This record gives sequence, structure tokens and C-alpha cells, in this order.
Amino acid sequence: MLESLHNTEQQALSELQQAVDSAAMKEWRSRHLGKESTLMQNLGSLGSLPAAERPEIGRRANEIRRALEAAYQERSDELSSTSEAAPATTLDVTLPGRPVKQGRLHIATQTLRRIYAIWAEMGFQVYRSQDLETDEYNFELLNIPAHHPARDMWDTFHTNTPGIILRTHTSPGQIHAMRAYCPESIRVILPGMCYRYEQITARSEIQFNQVEGLAVGKNIRFTDLKGTLSDFARRMFGESTGTRFRASHFPFTEPSAEMDIECFLCAGKGCSVCKHTCWLEILGCGMVHPTVLQNGGYDPREFTGFAFGMGPERIAMLKYGIEDIRYFWGNDLRFLEQF
Ligand code: PHE
Repeated sequence: MLESLHNTEQQALSELQQAVDSAAMKEWRSRHLGKESTLMQNLGSLGSLPAAERPEIGRRANEIRRALEAAYQERSDELSSTSEAAPATTLDVTLPGRPVKQGRLHIATQTLRRIYAIWAEMGFQVYRSQDLETDEYNFELLNIPAHHPARDMWDTFHTNTPGIILRTHTSPGQIHAMRAYCPESIRVILPGMCYRYEQITARSEIQFNQVEGLAVGKNIRFTDLKGTLSDFARRMFGESTGTRFRASHFPFTEPSAEMDIECFLCAGKGCSVCKHTCWLEILGCGMVHPTVLQNGGYDPREFTGFAFGMGPERIAMLKYGIEDIRYFWGNDLRFLEQF
């Protein structure tokens, strides 16, 4: 009797290994563990055995039942974990492949990284400063006191805490960097998101990136500013890109300028992007105002510096002929996937 139980077990275990799908598993289960199975029949007829044999046979039969159940469980787990590989036999290699969706960097990030790389080549490190600023850093220390008319240039998002605002430009980072580096010389770029309380249109968004630049040291002159920024333009837009500087005004730089590059779209013929002027404005810049240097901890009689601020989205718009700035933060994949 014990021997026949043993054979039943061995038989069942070896058949289990042949079962490869759920139908076979079901069939195996009913054959070896179902009511009609040899094992269950044996368990059911224990009462008809001589009393002396009953305990031993009963114990062994129950042991086998548990072993088969465990083996069944293990085998079904194994089959379900490899079930994806199972249909390999029916794989049709002539079917066209499914396209793999590939992620990509946002166009603004791509442009930012290109800008970082160029400035890194020229010895400028990235310095991060925060999006939430105080009125003091965003305006006061940059030579823009309360009621200064220039505040109109930067329509501001205020928070519930008086004096805490969302930065309207990356220029407050200039003061943070100066205070961190003083009295060493500085070569940094300060990238980041800026916020302005404005009507959203094709040309203006309430949030956008800026990349600020700051160089402070001894004997830095306006020619350094012109040379460095012209070099940047050539690296960014091509070897033969011409630049011009137009006088402008920012309270934190003196003198101030705006840099234009030659329109690379029409190459001097005039087009709608450059509005037939053949020049594209790409950044504001100037020599750091003595008051600002002083606020940063430097003695303006000893130190000078230049600063600039550019908009990567604007640069990307010019470069790729993007007509509406709202595409950048609209999360429309049809737009984002083009880059
Ligand atoms: N912060 C200025 C703006 O937002 C740009 C700028 C930066 C100009 C640094 C001069 C120097 O328009």
C-alpha cells in the first residue's frame, strides 16, 4: 500500500512537469487531487483498512496530498511568470515592429544645456539661486527702490507674505553670487525660471527661463563684455554671426545695452521674424552698476564687472521659428515631440 502511494506521488510529480498551460494544469489537478483521484480514493477508504495500518497510511497519504498541492502551486507560479515568453512559438517575425516611444528633453532644457555648455567652455560656472525672492533682492539691492518707475518693467507676482515675491528676473542672483564669492573674482551664469504677472499672449508668458551672467573682477571693461557676448553669439548661432550693441537702460547696469544678432533666417534679406530689420534682439547687458557692486560687498573703486540676461525660450523661438511662446508650457506632445 505504502509503495503504491509512493508511485502515485512520483507519477503525479513527473506529469506535473509536462503541464505547460493552464488547461493542462487544471486537468492534472483534477486527475491527481480531485475526488476521483487514486490518492483521494485511498484517503476515503482508510476506514476499510486494518486498524494497525490506518495511522501510517493516513499520515503518508496526507503528506503526499500536501506535497502535490505545494508542487502544483509552484508550477503554476512558474508558468505564470514565464507566460510572456510562452507564446514565443507563435511569434510572427514578419509583423512590423511596434515603435518604441522614446522620451526626450524639453526644448527649453535642450536650449539651456547648450547655453551652459558654451559658457562652461568660456569658464563660467552655473550658480543656482531660488525662485522665491525678497523684494529687497529682486529690486532694492539692484538699485530699483520702491516707487522707482523701472518697477513697471517687471509686473510682479506677490505672495501672502509681505516682501516675498516670485522673482521677475534672474538678476537678484547677482547679489547672492557676489555675497557668496566676495572678495574673489566671479564668472558665473545663473539660470532659472522667472515669473511675471502679465497677459499671456503669443509673445509673453507668465513664466519663462532666463540665463543671467555675471563677471566681476579687476580691470573688466565694456570691451570684455562686447567680446565675450559676441563670442557667445558665434558659438550659439554660427561662426559668422554678426552682433551689434544698442544703448539701453537697466537700473542695475551702467552703461546698459541690448545685443542684437544678425538675422540668421533671412541673412540680410528681411523677413517677418526680424520684422525686416535683419537684426534680432537676444539679450540685455551692461557694466554692473557701482551701487550693485557695493551691495554685493565689492569696492567699486577696485572692482568692475559686466552682467547680461537672456531668454532661452526666445532664443529657441528664433532658432526654430516657433511662433507662439505658449507652446513651451502647453504640454502638447505634438509640439514637444518635434525637438
Ligand atoms: N534682468 C534684465 C531683464 O530681465 C536683463 C539684464 C540682466 C540686463 C543683466 C542687464 C544685465 O530684462
